[in-house]
Amino acid sequence: MCGIVGYIGNREAYPIILNGLKRLEYRGYDSAGIALYDGTGIQMAKTKGKVSDLESRADAEISKKGSLGLGHTRWATHGVPNDINSHPHYSNSGDLVIIHNGIIENYASIKKELINRGYTFKSDTDTEVLVNLIEEIKKKEDVKLGKAVQIALNQVVGAYAIALFDRKKPDEIVVARLGSPLAIGIGENEFFVASDATPFIEFTNNAIYLKDEEMAIIRLKKGVKVRKIKDDSLVDPYIHELQLNLEQIEKGGYDHFMLKEIYEQPKVIKDTYRGRLLANKGIIKLGGLEDHINKFTNADRIIIVACGTSWHAGLVAEYIFEDWARIPVEVEYASEFRYRNPVITEKDVVIAISQSGETADTLAAIKLAKERGAFVYGVCNVVGSSISRETDSGTYTHAGPEIGVASTKAFTTQITVLTMIALRLADVKGTISHSDYMMHLRELDTIPTLVEEALKSDDKIREIAYEFKDAANFLYLGRGYNFPVALEGALKLKEISYIHAEGYPAAEMKHGPIALIDEHMPVVVIAVNSNHYEKVVSNIEEIKARKGKIIAVVTEGDTTVKELADYIMEVPKTPETLSPLVTTIPLQLLSYHIAVMLDRNVDQPRNLAKSVTVE
Ligand code: F6R
Repeated sequence: MCGIVGYIGNREAYPIILNGLKRLEYRGYDSAGIALYDGTGIQMAKTKGKVSDLESRADAEISKKGSLGLGHTRWATHGVPNDINSHPHYSNSGDLVIIHNGIIENYASIKKELINRGYTFKSDTDTEVLVNLIEEIKKKEDVKLGKAVQIALNQVVGAYAIALFDRKKPDEIVVARLGSPLAIGIGENEFFVASDATPFIEFTNNAIYLKDEEMAIIRLKKGVKVRKIKDDSLVDPYIHELQLNLEQIEKGGYDHFMLKEIYEQPKVIKDTYRGRLLANKGIIKLGGLEDHINKFTNADRIIIVACGTSWHAGLVAEYIFEDWARIPVEVEYASEFRYRNPVITEKDVVIAISQSGETADTLAAIKLAKERGAFVYGVCNVVGSSISRETDSGTYTHAGPEIGVASTKAFTTQITVLTMIALRLADVKGTISHSDYMMHLRELDTIPTLVEEALKSDDKIREIAYEFKDAANFLYLGRGYNFPVALEGALKLKEISYIHAEGYPAAEMKHGPIALIDEHMPVVVIAVNSNHYEKVVSNIEEIKARKGKIIAVVTEGDTTVKELADYIMEVPKTPETLSPLVTTIPLQLLSYHIAVMLDRNVDQPRNLAKSVTVE
């Protein structure tokens, strides 16, 4: 929920850290700070606000010199966002400087003890407690910084990715992780530390992803030593060769990352099935699935755990798994699942869906499912993420970095993967006819073209957005495969425009929400060709009778709904089973344009962060 960056080498650290923070701002953006060792002492600038505010403050307050430094962009957990609570934090002596992403749960008792020993605290943060605990251990035990960190972390309960240095020993950075990501970039005579690899991608392709309960001591001359936090034993780290490039993490001419990511969908859906789907040969081959296919085909049920948009992708999967593979599916909010003592057996398969691969609740749900003997399969976007490592097997979506906080391309690529899994299982189980199977493979192969087609309505959708930008509430309705799309459309609107919106199964409207409908209520109805088309048309009539304003997503060439609706957004024809991949596109664009018209911060909506690594 925070972004951390560090540098040690021979270049000026400031521009590297500042640029890195800008790339990590998706992780948190309520305050930011930077600390540099300038050869004699530490210079620090920090402020409430965004990295751009930090830049102005650094221009005014510090010389920005030095080739050792740490930077932080925050999403507040302990202590309100203000200058003092911003990271980095000093220890009481002023020797140690720390940045931290995560939560130290037992900070209050440690703080009390440190206060008894004479320590004072400037901020309300758990992080300042941690750096002083490390200082106290370093002094009391007379040990080096790395050892003090290791001892301290064994006393700490919570989650962290930390980086710190000692101004008296400015040739090393110590880092550690538990539950929050941390990558170390290895250059020539220089090292980078960051929450993900984006801050250092133009400097090196080599990175170590620390695993949970590992720490590293990074020395300018001696390189990186990775150790286990628990027993201090040495670890031989795997050095990853990064596939990222700079272009992937820049806006590429679009006004916002969200818009760029919406437009990337034809490409990334194709990237996600490329080499895995051979439509004409009738082959679906997912490496992670093939070795464990019996687990799925023998499963009593599949339990899907996820949060937010990923949970909506799970709901789409429920329909297709049950329809094609005839395996009972339950879709659970990871946050509820982990705390309600669920019945899980060794005959259950749990699928965890996550873009970031770092969502704390999803991770906890995975751990619980594993403890109870279930086989856990991951559908993740971020390679090497905690969830991808914690699961027994899995399939990556190939969406590329998703930087806009509102998830778009992650959703459609997750559905692409889940569709392939469901089809493959149905084929193995013989629960789908060969012709139906072949038809779906071929149709899936056309989805990128159809999404491209759907994107062509962008201008028209912008006009619709203009008509409704001042509405106070929206209702989103869909049935069957498109009920989760209605939920997702409402979530997109809420999170980036701050307009209240609710998604409902269309038929549920008459059980309550219909009371909300009057001439001021825009109702977005997904009314594409489907088994429920006539029923949805009846729902539209009901809205119309109550003077609600109807914005309908319809199949190209539709005439019935066109006559009834106030506005239509057309999408190309698909089988109903695959329609969420195209019906979601106009809803993403609608919320995007409304948010832009309301002058919202589309890529960094208030109170949100891209990866939710706290409960
Ligand atoms: C909504 C959104 C969130 C995430 C949720 C899960 O646009 O981005 O609802 O979908 O926080 O995140 P992941 O998929 O990273 O586990």
